[in-house]
Amino acid sequence: MLTPPKHIAIIMDGNGRWAKKRLMPRLAGHRAGRKAAREAVEFAARHADIDVLTLFAFSTENWARPEDEVSGLMRLFASALSEEVDTLAKNDIRIRFVGDLSRFSASLQQQMREAEQATQHGRRLCLQLALNYGGRADITQSVKRLAERVATGDLAASDIQESDISAGLYGAEVPDPDLLIRTGGERRISNFLLWDLAYAELYFTDTLWPDFDRHEMAQALEWFTHRQRRFGQTGEQVSNDATGPA
Ligand code: IPE
Ligand code: IPE
Ligand code: MG
Repeated sequence: MLTPPKHIAIIMDGNGRWAKKRLMPRLAGHRAGRKAAREAVEFAARHADIDVLTLFAFSTENWARPEDEVSGLMRLFASALSEEVDTLAKNDIRIRFVGDLSRFSASLQQQMREAEQATQHGRRLCLQLALNYGGRADITQSVKRLAERVATGDLAASDIQESDISAGLYGAEVPDPDLLIRTGGERRISNFLLWDLAYAELYFTDTLWPDFDRHEMAQALEWFTHRQRRFGQTGEQVSNDATGPA
């Protein structure tokens, strides 16, 4: 049996369909999704083993949505931030934003920086919010910086290691996710943490994000503990490591 994951990443999908089923506008689905995100954060903060929770809130591709949905989401991010930051700080939770923030309005960027600062000492949980995040964009910006170092002669191209690329990613400060959860029924990664998910266990559920509560989260964790993570080795090698003599 595996111990619970230390880092959980979630693709929070299904808000639009949740709203549509209720004949409500898509934005009502996103508002309901915000409550589910709050519950996921509370769950992770209460769980002693979980150190990091990464929530995919807005992808580099989501700008292509109708303008009113995008602007509604921006307002929702701003109000959620201003309403939740004190609670996060009080509960010893650190917030970090991963993604290219430069595309957001100056005031939202300012709010994000302030939230990171106000919660920087949080040790109970590191909450990463992926906003304007794309896995390919993430790898590209890391590789660009390495290319600049090669151009200035600081690094030889032949010396580039995997760890150099990892070190330049938005999530470099935290360990890779052990468990990825995607709600909403699709079985795809949608350009989320492409590099970091190399060895994550993938859990897919048809539950729409606004309906994903702490019981569903506990179920995903329970599923995780029955996986055998082999990292390329054989099943026998791994179970010998766990139970056999040193
Ligand atoms: C995910 O829910 C939230 C965001 C992408 C912001 P969706 O809005 O994608 O919901 P569906 O997939 O249309 O149901
Ligand atoms: C992924 O959901 C992005 C977020 C949850 C923020 P999408 O709804 O955008 O993904 P696709 O379009 O179905 O692949
Ligand atoms: Mg979707």
